[in-house]
Amino acid sequence: MDSQTKGIYTLPGNQEKTDLLKKKNEEALLGGGEARIASQHKKGKLTARERLHLLLDEGSFQEIDKFVTHRAKDFGLDKEHYLGDGVVTGYGEINGRLVYVFSQDFTVFGGSLSETHAEKICKIMDMAMKNGAPVIGLNDSGGARIQEGVSSLGGYADIFYRNTLASGVIPQISAIMGPCAGGAVYSPAITDFILMVEITSYMFVTGPNVVKTVTQEQVTAEELGGARTHSTKSGVTHFACPNELECIKHIRNLLSYIPQNCEETAPDYHYEIKEDEIRDVLDDIIPENPTHPYDMRDVIKGLSDEDSFLEVHKDFADNMVVGFARIAGRSIGVVGNQPQSLAGVLDNDASVKAARFVRFCDCFNIPLLVLVDVPGFLPGTDQEWNGIISNGAKLLYAFSEATVPRITVITRKAYGGAYDVMNSKHIGADLNFAWPTAEIAVMGAKGAAEIIFKREIAESDDPEAKLQEKVDDYTAKFANPYRAAHRGFIDEVIMPSETRDKLIRGFKMLENKVDKLPRKKHGNIPL
Ligand code: HXC
Repeated sequence: MDSQTKGIYTLPGNQEKTDLLKKKNEEALLGGGEARIASQHKKGKLTARERLHLLLDEGSFQEIDKFVTHRAKDFGLDKEHYLGDGVVTGYGEINGRLVYVFSQDFTVFGGSLSETHAEKICKIMDMAMKNGAPVIGLNDSGGARIQEGVSSLGGYADIFYRNTLASGVIPQISAIMGPCAGGAVYSPAITDFILMVEITSYMFVTGPNVVKTVTQEQVTAEELGGARTHSTKSGVTHFACPNELECIKHIRNLLSYIPQNCEETAPDYHYEIKEDEIRDVLDDIIPENPTHPYDMRDVIKGLSDEDSFLEVHKDFADNMVVGFARIAGRSIGVVGNQPQSLAGVLDNDASVKAARFVRFCDCFNIPLLVLVDVPGFLPGTDQEWNGIISNGAKLLYAFSEATVPRITVITRKAYGGAYDVMNSKHIGADLNFAWPTAEIAVMGAKGAAEIIFKREIAESDDPEAKLQEKVDDYTAKFANPYRAAHRGFIDEVIMPSETRDKLIRGFKMLENKVDKLPRKKHGNIPL
C-alpha cells in the first residue's frame, strides 16, 4: 500500500464516509423495516433476501443497485424512500453456474413496481441477455405502484418487452411467492416456467372483487388464482410447490437440465455406460389386454437414468406426460401419451401442454424422446368448439419445426392423425422405434371393421359373428408395427427391454445433428 492510499484510510473524514456506507448497507438490508419483515414472516413468507440466500450458492450473490430509490413526489412519496425500492437484484451462481436474479421485497410498498423498480429489473435482464445466462424472478408484489400511475405501467411494459426479446435466447423462470395481479401476470406468462407456492401466492388479471362486480361470481383469491387452480385448471403454472423452500429447491433442480442459453447444450452429468443397459422390467409393462391402462411414467423411469425424471405440468392435462430426464447423463425432454388417463387420448389441453414443452426443448438444444400410446383425438363438441383443430395443429407444428435430435418409441397404439402428430418419421423424427405390441393404423379395429364392412355385416345371418371375424382380420393385418416397418416409417421393431440401450446409442449418434429450417422471419404457429 503506498503512503497516499494509507493516508486515505486514516483521515477522520473518511472514517465517517466508511460509516455512512456501512449504515446505508444496513438500512438497505432492512427493506421496509423490522415490523414489516415480522409481518411477512407471520404470513408464512420469507423476505426477498432470505429467498435469494436459499436460492443461490452460498456467498455467490452480488447485488446491483442496492441504493436505488424512487423518484416519485406525489401522495407524500417524496418523504418516503427505501434503499433498493422494493426489489433486490443482482447475479450469483446455482450449482456453480451464473444466473441473474430479481426478488421483489413485499416489505417496501408491498413490493409494488415503480419506474425505478422496473429499471432495476430491466438492467439485470439486459446483462443476462448480453452474457447468456438465465434470469430468475421471485415475484411478490401488489402490482403497479399506485402513486406513480403511468410511469409504473411503462415500467411493466419495458419488462414485458425484454421478456419477449429474451424468449428462446436465455431461459427465464418465474416463481410466484405472493400476490401477482393485474397486468403484472404477463411478465411471468411470457417466461419459460412458472412455479407457484401453495396458499401464499396467487395470480389473476382481475381479483375477486372485480369478478364479483362484473360477473356476480363469488370466489376467493385462492380459488380464482391460487397454485392449485393454475396447476390443475388453467395450466398457467408448471409447478405447484407446498412451500417456499420446496419452490426454491425445484428451481435449482430444474436448472440442472437446462443450458445457459440457446447457443449451449445442457450440462452433461458423468455416466459410465454399462456393457448391458437392458431393462427386463420393461418387457412386462404392456398389459395383455390392449384396452388396459398402464403408467407411462413407469416406462420413462425404466428408460432414463435413476431418479432423473422431473415431471413438468404434472397436474394439468394428465393424459399427456412431459418432463426432463437424463439418458446416460445427458438431458432430454420426454413427451408421452398417458394411457392411464383418458386412454392417452389427445385433447386441447394435452396438445397445448406438449407443444409448449417441445418448443422449449427445441429453443434450448434439448433432444426429445417421444413415447406414443394414443388412440387418436378426443371427439366431442367441447373439444371442437374449444379449438382442437388449432390446438392439435400447435403440437404438429411444434414437432415439425423442432431441429433437435428426436427419437420416437411407439409402445402400443398409434392411431389416425395422432400417429402423424406424435413425432412420426414423416414430420422429421430422426429415429422411430416400435415395440412388438405397437398397433399403427388409421383407427381401432372395431371402428374400421364397422365402416368398411358395414353392408357385409348388416347382410350377414349373424352380424355379431361377422363383425368379430372382420375385427380379427383387421387386427391381424394392421394392429401391429410391421406394415409401418415394411415401409420404413419405423426404423426398427425392438424389445422394450433393449430400448434404453437403443436410446443411448441413438442419442449419441445424433449428437452432432445439424438441421436448418427454410430461411424465414418467423413461422406462424396456429396460436
Ligand atoms: C403502492 C402498495 C400497493 C401498490 C400494496 N401497497 N400494494 N403500495 N402500490 N400497488 C402497500 C400498502 O399500502 C401497504 O403499505 C403495504 O404495501 C402492504 O399492503 P397491505 O395491503 O397491508 O398488505 P396485504 O393485506 O397483504 O394485501 C396485499 C395486497 C393489497 C392484496 C397486494 O395491498 C392490494 O390489494 N394492493 C393493491 C393491489 C392493486 O390493485 N394493484 C394495482 C393492480 S393494477 P404499508 O405502508 O401499510 O406497509 C396493476 C396494473 C399493472 O398492477 C399493469 C401492467 C400492464
